[in-house]
Amino acid sequence: SSSSSKRDLLSMQDLSAADIQAILKLAAKLKKEQKAGKARPLLRGKTLGMIFQKPSTRTRVSFEVGMSQLGGSAIYLGSTDIQLARGETIEDTAKTLSRYVDCLMARVYDHADVQKLAASASIPVINGLSDAFHPCQILADLLTIREHKKKLEGLRMAWLGDGDNVCNDLLLAAAKTGISMAAACPAGYEPLEGVVKTAKAEGKKTGAEITVTADPATAAKDADIVVTDTFISIGKEGERATRESVFLPKYQVNAGMMRLAKKDAIFMHCLPAKRGQEVTADVIDGPQSVVWDEAENRLHAQKAVLCMLMKKAA
Ligand code: CP
Ligand code: NVA
Repeated sequence: SSSSSKRDLLSMQDLSAADIQAILKLAAKLKKEQKAGKARPLLRGKTLGMIFQKPSTRTRVSFEVGMSQLGGSAIYLGSTDIQLARGETIEDTAKTLSRYVDCLMARVYDHADVQKLAASASIPVINGLSDAFHPCQILADLLTIREHKKKLEGLRMAWLGDGDNVCNDLLLAAAKTGISMAAACPAGYEPLEGVVKTAKAEGKKTGAEITVTADPATAAKDADIVVTDTFISIGKEGERATRESVFLPKYQVNAGMMRLAKKDAIFMHCLPAKRGQEVTADVIDGPQSVVWDEAENRLHAQKAVLCMLMKKAA
């Protein structure tokens, strides 16, 4: 089998601005068709393997339902249920699964694990969240922003809190699509240095201003979009006390913070959320919140990615 022409989606760095636009366009089309009861079985007979080292609600269900809606199927592979748990290597797992399934999705701790999987697999590999990146989330976010704001280029986005996996890919995507993004993160919790550097360079081409600051008010001021994420990502539970003292109360998205943004600003969160921590209930359950559209759009955006990677763009 040849792996020369296969494509992977490990981070937003793997997608050009044109790729992103093509995925969003197809996602919007598939969403419309699905809602009209006119879904097409574009991936009939195709199978997606899904390796999970971490728990998931949205990623697991949206991939599984997405494959089913496209006429294919998906197999859930908990990493403790397969021979990975007994020391079979990622490389051998990748080579084996490549003989059975047409595409792999993996949710891992160490980003290097999903890179290894992609390097050894002869089929496309999708990152369903690593400690460094979450590209599927960001494609759904862009679709949601475009639906609510009717454009991407020229918008201003504020990120508050942990400069985590979601923040890293959001910076890359914002820069590539012309959204100016200010990430407000406490010292020691900034996004990856290499990512910030790349995003700033990409932003120069599109006019997007990419900044990292420790001051949430500066970031939130006049924003069109206010985004946050949990302060305690999967695997960081042992740092709960430290993180709460670092992030609270300064980095919480509450009514006062939303008042600094534009009047028609939207609030986004990849979920799961902890009310009273990174966001207050009045904001996430209030009129500016688009979190349920955002969660739904995981399904539509991923269907477009699956079609693109399995070369069934239509
Ligand atoms: N946003 C997201 O990836 O959710 P899950 O952890 O439930 O998959
Ligand atoms: N930053 C979060 C995102 C969960 C979807 C985490 O890694 O747990």
